[in-house]
Amino acid sequence: MRLELPKYSERFGAVLFHDVQKVYELDGGFQADEAFSNPFHVIRHIEGEKLYDIEKDLAIIIPTRNERLRLLEGVLAGIPHHCLPIILSNSYTDPIDRFRLECQTVDNFCRYAKKKYLIMHQRSSELARLAQEGGYASLLDDKGLVRNGKAEGMIAGIILARLMGKKYVGFVDADNYFPGSVFEYVRIFSAGLSQSDSPYSMVRIQWHSKPKIDGDGLFFAKWGRVSRISNAFLNRFISQYTGFETDVIKTGNAGEHALSMDLALQMDYSAGFSIETHHFVNLMESYGGVHVTPEALPAMQQGVYLYQIESRNPHLHDAKEDGHVEGMIHQSLSVLFHSSLCTEVLKTEILTEMRRMGILKKNEYPQKPHYYPSLQQLDFEQAEKAWDPQKHGNAAL
Ligand code: GDP
Ligand code: CO
Repeated sequence: MRLELPKYSERFGAVLFHDVQKVYELDGGFQADEAFSNPFHVIRHIEGEKLYDIEKDLAIIIPTRNERLRLLEGVLAGIPHHCLPIILSNSYTDPIDRFRLECQTVDNFCRYAKKKYLIMHQRSSELARLAQEGGYASLLDDKGLVRNGKAEGMIAGIILARLMGKKYVGFVDADNYFPGSVFEYVRIFSAGLSQSDSPYSMVRIQWHSKPKIDGDGLFFAKWGRVSRISNAFLNRFISQYTGFETDVIKTGNAGEHALSMDLALQMDYSAGFSIETHHFVNLMESYGGVHVTPEALPAMQQGVYLYQIESRNPHLHDAKEDGHVEGMIHQSLSVLFHSSLCTEVLKTEILTEMRRMGILKKNEYPQKPHYYPSLQQLDFEQAEKAWDPQKHGNAAL
């Protein structure tokens, strides 16, 4: 892959936020290119070998809930062979057992492709046992099962990836119409992660565009309402400390993102739609240098790198009802509002904006999100004893 170098970066304590990088060539060649021995170039060439080295240690977590099987199969087709797909499903099992259909589809596909995979149901007792035995009960509800929600599925996916010995995790939604764009996302993950010389790194995808039908043609929208607002406030969040206005953050709601396992295990998470925005807030809280904790020291010394990379493919996913836009804005802004780093000035700005949009009434305040502590609290050795991966796919065979 050939990537543009980030034009500038914004530092917040030990965290380096890099500006968006463009993809120049989806396939930049397998071996090193002589032309790149000159230091004065603006493109980074990441050889196929390097991508492969990361991808063989990369698990792609696919959270899914009642998506069309055809789309799920397409997503699998887009994942490079040597990555491990982990399908974390919260589909209904009654009256029709959709999860069983998913297992059959995935198993058939992977049998033909001779591909390794892992699949688990979010509400299964087997998955709950991993969290229970590992001493991470915060993920469980009052029935003793893993809580509902995409964020909770993502966290469970990280646990499974760690149990499978993976060094990186990436997230791809199951409702993507273009296997080619899934392929590009995974390549962007490995290319992005390969740039870091710290074990703590994250890559987030900025979609090239999201096509919409407009009259009798197509309109390629770049920014949604939610990301416009959360990016603006995340950038304000940085400027309140640096004193300089910035627009470095452009992926505040990126569902498609990847992390090194070291970072994924260190971070804490918030529930619901706020999880993506919370990544940024958590990086600033933990490694920004404002409050220093002993657990954060190794990462603070080695640095935490965040890369944002713009895909070439448009993003086309299954259109769901749009009613939750306001809920998403509410959740994204609440993690900022409730952060220990949020200044009174910014709190007032957030309240004013939310009341102006009619998301909050006068005298109402954003709800505090539910948080999950870092997965370092989970005892993976104990969890390992609590499951048999062979029952959930062929990855351990
Ligand atoms: P949007 O793309 O942000 O509008 O959100 P989607 O509704 O498409 O959800 C993103 C992905 O998460 C899709 O693959 C969903 O099937 C999946 N998803 C949604 N809710 C849940 C859940 O409770 N658990 C799991 N495991 N996946 C979910
Ligand atoms: Co979607």
